[in-house]
Amino acid sequence: MAADELQSKAAALRWYHTIELGVGVVTRGVDDTPRRLASLNLPASLAGKTVLDVGAWDGFFSFEAEKRGATRVLATDSYSWDGPGWGTKDGFNLARQALNSRVEDVNIDVVELSPERVGTFDVVLFLGVLYHLPNPLLALERIASVTRELLILETVVDLVGIKRPAAAFYPGAELNRDPTNWWGPNAPAVHAMLQTVGFHRVRTVTPRPSALYRALRAVSHHVRGRNRIDLAFSQDRAVFHAIRGSSRPEADIQ
Ligand SMILES: C[S@@+](CC[C@H](N)C(=O)[O-])C[C@H]1O[C@@H](n2cnc3c(N)ncnc32)[C@H](O)[C@@H]1O
Repeated sequence: MAADELQSKAAALRWYHTIELGVGVVTRGVDDTPRRLASLNLPASLAGKTVLDVGAWDGFFSFEAEKRGATRVLATDSYSWDGPGWGTKDGFNLARQALNSRVEDVNIDVVELSPERVGTFDVVLFLGVLYHLPNPLLALERIASVTRELLILETVVDLVGIKRPAAAFYPGAELNRDPTNWWGPNAPAVHAMLQTVGFHRVRTVTPRPSALYRALRAVSHHVRGRNRIDLAFSQDRAVFHAIRGSSRPEADIQ
């Protein structure tokens, strides 16, 4: 596609992800996706691996997995793709075309995932979705059922500092004034849930946040009108790697 045509097609869409589409066109995503990518510890090479990206939206992470050599990538989503959610599938479709990508796609809710519906995958990306789900343990059971080796999970965490597994419940729009947010587990709860559904080794990849970092983050969230400062102080985002199956150490896919 010519640069002018791609530029005008991209400019006509609302983007969540910031994606380089080539020929100098970068989507105007509300999310600083390259910065988030850096926090994931995504294996530098995914050569020979199959990858499932659950809740893919505009597909940044699916396309990144393909770039890193994955043999098959399946992007799935429902809320944003099926509407009337936050967005549409138009961005994903345009990016796939512009990037000449072979990423596959299925519109499916997380809780409908199963080996029969989508197959099983060496690596599963579950990024920015868990806290949007009313039944997180059920969703993680479904995720475990389609994961062969490594799950990379990124989520909001809450009740940071409490050592027992615990989760904050947001029955309304308590988290970031967004009524689609339901649960903010703390890191011990994420570990315990992942072990409960069959991941035998779980590690938190993001560094433990310092009190100063949390205070600055809380002030920034409060100033932007997203949350009360005392609540924001105990919230953060964190990344977890979880291994399933006994014979494949994570080192194999890094
Ligand atoms: C905050 S966005 C994260 C998008 C992308 N994974 C990322 O990390 O940038 C949450 C995504 O989860 C999807 N989602 C929410 N609930 C879902 C559900 N029940 N089943 C499948 N996808 C869901 C939304 O449609 C949206 O694309």
